Amino acid sequence: MARKFFVGGNWKCNGTSDDVKKIVSMLNEAEVPPEDVVEVVVSPPYVFLPLVKSLLRSDFGVAAQNCWVRKGGAFTGEISAGMLVNLNIPWVILGHSERRLLLNESNEFVGDKVAYALSQGLKVIACVGETLEQRESGSTMAVVAAQTKSIAERVSNWDDIVLAYEPVWAIGTGKVATPAQAQEVHTELRKWLHDNTGPEVAASVRIIYGGSVNGNNCKELAAQPDVDGFLVGGASLKPEFIDIIEAST
Ligand code: G3P
Repeated sequence: MARKFFVGGNWKCNGTSDDVKKIVSMLNEAEVPPEDVVEVVVSPPYVFLPLVKSLLRSDFGVAAQNCWVRKGGAFTGEISAGMLVNLNIPWVILGHSERRLLLNESNEFVGDKVAYALSQGLKVIACVGETLEQRESGSTMAVVAAQTKSIAERVSNWDDIVLAYEPVWAIGTGKVATPAQAQEVHTELRKWLHDNTGPEVAASVRIIYGGSVNGNNCKELAAQPDVDGFLVGGASLKPEFIDIIEAST
C-alpha cells in the first residue's frame, strides 16, 4: 500500500510574530510536490496558531504541539482539543519526548491524550522514542513498543494517527540516526502494529522519523522503505525545510 509521505515541522518554543511571518512567507513561496504526494504540517507555539492558520498556504496543515487530556475546564495553563477544533487546527503532536521527560508525561497519560484528541476529531502525530541509556542497554524496542501499546490499547482507529519515531539521543544533538538504525526500528514498529492491530493498520500507518533531520541527511533516510516522512525540529525553521519536503521525490 502506498503511504503518502508526511513532513512535519515542529517549531517548538521558538519565535516572535515577526519570525513566524518570515517563516510562513518562506513556506508560501516554496515550490514543493503536490499535497497528494507529500503532506506538510507545521506546528508553531500555541500563541501563533491563529496567525499561522491565517497566513499559511492552504495545501499545508497546521498542528498544535500538545493539548489537554480531557474536556476543558479548571486546568490552568492548558489548552483543549475543543479549542483547537474551534480554531480549525486539524493536527496535534502528542507524546513528544521533551514533554515525556520534562513534564513526566507517562505512556498511559499520552495514550489517554491521543484517544481524547481523536475523539474530538483531531489528527494526531504520536511520538515514541528511547533515550541513549535505553538504547545502550538494548531496550529500544521494549521501550517504543510499550509507548505504542499504551496508544493501541486506547484507540480502535489508526486512520488519523501518524506515528513518529524520535530517538531522544538524536533530538537537537546533530547525532541523526543512521538510515539503518531508523529503518530497523520502523520495521519493528510496523511488525508490532501488524501483530497487535492487524495487517491493514500496519500497512497504512505512516511511521515518520525525527531527530536531527536536515537538508543533507533527509534523502538517504527517506529512501528507507519504512521511513514514511519526518518530524523536523530545528531545520523546520530554516529554508532547508523545503529540501526535506522534497526528500521523497
Ligand atoms: O519533534 C521533532 C524534534 O524532536 C526533532 O528535533 O531539532 O532534532 O530536528 P530536531
